[in-house]
Amino acid sequence: MIKRSSTLFLRGVSLKPDVPKNRFPFSIPAISNLNLKLNKHVTFLVGENGSGKSTILEALADRIGFNAMGGTKHHRFTEEYETELANYLLLQKDPRLPVSQGFFFRAESFFNLSGYIDEHGNPKYWGGKELLKQSHGESFLSAFNNQFREGLFLLDEPEAALSPQRQLSLLAIMNGMEKEGKSQLIIATHSPILLAYPGADIFLLDENGITKVKYEETEHYQITKGFLDNPDKYFKLLFKS
Ligand SMILES: Nc1ncnc2c1ncn2[C@@H]1O[C@H](COP(=O)(O)OP(=O)(O)OP(=O)(O)O)[C@@H](O)[C@H]1O
Ligand SMILES: [Mg+2]
Repeated sequence: MIKRSSTLFLRGVSLKPDVPKNRFPFSIPAISNLNLKLNKHVTFLVGENGSGKSTILEALADRIGFNAMGGTKHHRFTEEYETELANYLLLQKDPRLPVSQGFFFRAESFFNLSGYIDEHGNPKYWGGKELLKQSHGESFLSAFNNQFREGLFLLDEPEAALSPQRQLSLLAIMNGMEKEGKSQLIIATHSPILLAYPGADIFLLDENGITKVKYEETEHYQITKGFLDNPDKYFKLLFKS
């Protein structure tokens, strides 16, 4: 049984020395400067489209042994898939904890994983109903509710299919996981709702590399709040001819 005080499966991610230069993915500033300190139950990765969030999560998943297209270490629904970055990652793991017990949730390919699960998995571990017979967001919630317990969870845009109400449900699931003390989450997101999770660290990926920021400093918070407070101000700027 894993105790609450020792649930940081991964305490840091950085790069080995002598990585190749000037080509993908090492040409991405967040990757050439990769150095994540993971001290919290929840760590968020934020940044513009193309800033490198998915590239980092895929490489981490690959290195840890999760199916790189999403799922656990037991799911094998795609051909062998490797990311070059995985070989260059230095992981600071807790040797007492099984880092590979967990899940790589990729919104982008969850449909494919759902088909694989419906064909090869046991529905009782997924809420009792075939995933492809559920709506997009319902199937996401089935995965979160039934699979998210113990281990390291890498989530890439879990909000993608979720209504605002279901994003609140995900916050409650994350809090339940934190209280159980058997998990750690690293989440790439664009959701200002999810980013509000209390006590999380938020890392911003941009042209300067990776910087820890406060929730209120994120564009997600500032633009959403600014827009909702005064949409006309934005329309004037956006729609000027
Ligand atoms: N195989 C590849 N070869 C060259 N460049 C690539 C390759 N795959 C991705 N890229 C580029 O790497 C950059 C980072 O992509 P990534 O998918 O990690 O971004 P992201 O931060 O997850 O963005 P988003 O918020 O849109 O999901 C992008 O500019 C993308 O075009
Ligand atoms: Mg992405």
